[in-house]
Amino acid sequence: MPSSPLFEHSTEETPLNRRDFFKLAGAGLSSLLLASSGLGSLAQGAEATKQDACIKAESELGVAKRFPLIEQGIEGLSAKQIQAHLRLYEGYVKKYQSISQEIKAFTPEQLANVNATYHPFRELLVEESFALNGVLLHEEYFGILTPDAKPMSSYLKSLLNQHFGSIEAFQAQLVASAKAMRGWAILGYCPRYKHLSFYGLDSHHMFSPVGVKPVLVVDVYEHAYLIDYGTDRASYLNALWKQIDWTVVEARLSFV
Ligand SMILES: [Fe+2]
Repeated sequence: MPSSPLFEHSTEETPLNRRDFFKLAGAGLSSLLLASSGLGSLAQGAEATKQDACIKAESELGVAKRFPLIEQGIEGLSAKQIQAHLRLYEGYVKKYQSISQEIKAFTPEQLANVNATYHPFRELLVEESFALNGVLLHEEYFGILTPDAKPMSSYLKSLLNQHFGSIEAFQAQLVASAKAMRGWAILGYCPRYKHLSFYGLDSHHMFSPVGVKPVLVVDVYEHAYLIDYGTDRASYLNALWKQIDWTVVEARLSFV
C-alpha cells in the first residue's frame, strides 16, 4: 500500500497506527478520530493538494507541450517536416480545449433530449475522443524521438526478448504494425493481463484498447512523413527506428 501523509504524521499524543485506524474506520469512527486528533487538518491538506493538482492540470488545457530536442529536425526527419507536424498537434490541443468547454456549457435542459442518432452533445463527445487522442498520441510520439539515439540497455533488450523472442522479431512487429495501420502503431502495456503487445489505430479514436498504456507510439499518418518521404512509408520507418530514444521507452516500461 502506498504511504500516506495521514499515517506518516501520527504523533505520541495520537498513537494511531495503520491497523488501529482501519479498525476504527470500519466501526464508523474515523471521522470523529480525524477531527479530534488533528489528523483531520492533515487529511484536508492532502485533499487541498489534490484539488490544486487538478486545477493546475485543467489550466494546462489548451497549452501545447514543447519538444525542443527535435524542433530543429533530427537525422531522417527535417525541421520543416517536424515543425509542420508540431503545428498540427498544436491545433489538436486548441480544438480539445474548445470542445471541452462546449461540453461543459450544456445546461440540464439542453441535455434532456440527447439521443444516439444525432445531437450536438453526441457529436461533441465523439470529437472529444478524437481530439484528446490526437493530443495524447502526438505527445507520446514526439516524446520518443531524439537527435541523439543510443543503443538499448541490456535490461530493455532482455525485457523485449522476453516478450517478443528477439529484438529482430520486435522490430518486425513494429514495422508491420506501422505498415498495416492508417493512423498509429502502438506498443502498449495491458495492466489487466500484464501483456506487452502492438496495437493499431486507423484514426485517433478508432480501435484504441481501454486501459492500455502506450509505451512506443508511431505516427503513420502521411502528414508525419510526406514532406520528407512522399508516400514512402518504409523509408520513414527505417529512419524513425534509428532515432528512437530507448531510455524513454525503458522509463515508460518501469511498471512492467
Ligand atoms: Fe500526426
